[in-house]
Amino acid sequence: MLIKRVPSTDAPLDLLLEADPSVETIRGYLENSSCYVATIGNETVGAYVIQPMGDGAHELMNIAVAPAHQRKGIGVKLLNHAITMAREVGAQRLELSTGTFGYQLAFYQRAGFRVIAVERDHFLTHYDAPIYENGIQHKDRLRLALEY
Ligand SMILES: CC(C)(COP(=O)(O)OP(=O)(O)OC[C@H]1O[C@@H](n2cnc3c(N)ncnc32)[C@H](O)[C@@H]1OP(=O)(O)O)[C@@H](O)C(=O)NCCC(=O)NCCS
Repeated sequence: MLIKRVPSTDAPLDLLLEADPSVETIRGYLENSSCYVATIGNETVGAYVIQPMGDGAHELMNIAVAPAHQRKGIGVKLLNHAITMAREVGAQRLELSTGTFGYQLAFYQRAGFRVIAVERDHFLTHYDAPIYENGIQHKDRLRLALEY
């Protein structure tokens, strides 16, 4: 598997939509971000988007693995790549947002991320349509950070 940076114009939107249901939101942050894709042969199997926040922090805006390739360790490799990339450009911490429940929370916490804030009602006020996972509606959003 190869992980390489691509121009934002070549970002795999279909894949990024697995992690964020709003194409407008994704397009908005892609402009000021770096997008990395993971490929196996000619197939794009995963991607992440990272952005400098200032203040010594970078934000992981999106991370997604193609459904047919999930649960094979690609997500962990992409997350570790993002952690290394931010560290190499001098970041002191990497932040991200995620829902308050679900396997994604454990996925990040296993990598050392910790909760730093709760944004109540974020998913109710920032998205047009309700977002459900496992039959539960996402309402609040968590901010997580990994301190280097
Ligand atoms: C989150 C995501 C990037 C993880 O990628 P992945 O390649 O499937 O993850 P890995 O194979 O590296 O899995 C690492 C661990 O995460 C956990 N995990 C991953 N997917 C899981 C699932 N569907 N259910 C339960 N646990 C899961 C497991 O503990 C797994 O380890 P294990 O397979 O040894 O049990 C991927 O599931 C994805 O693209 N999801 C949709 C988009 C998304 O939700 N992005 C994050 C937004 S906050």
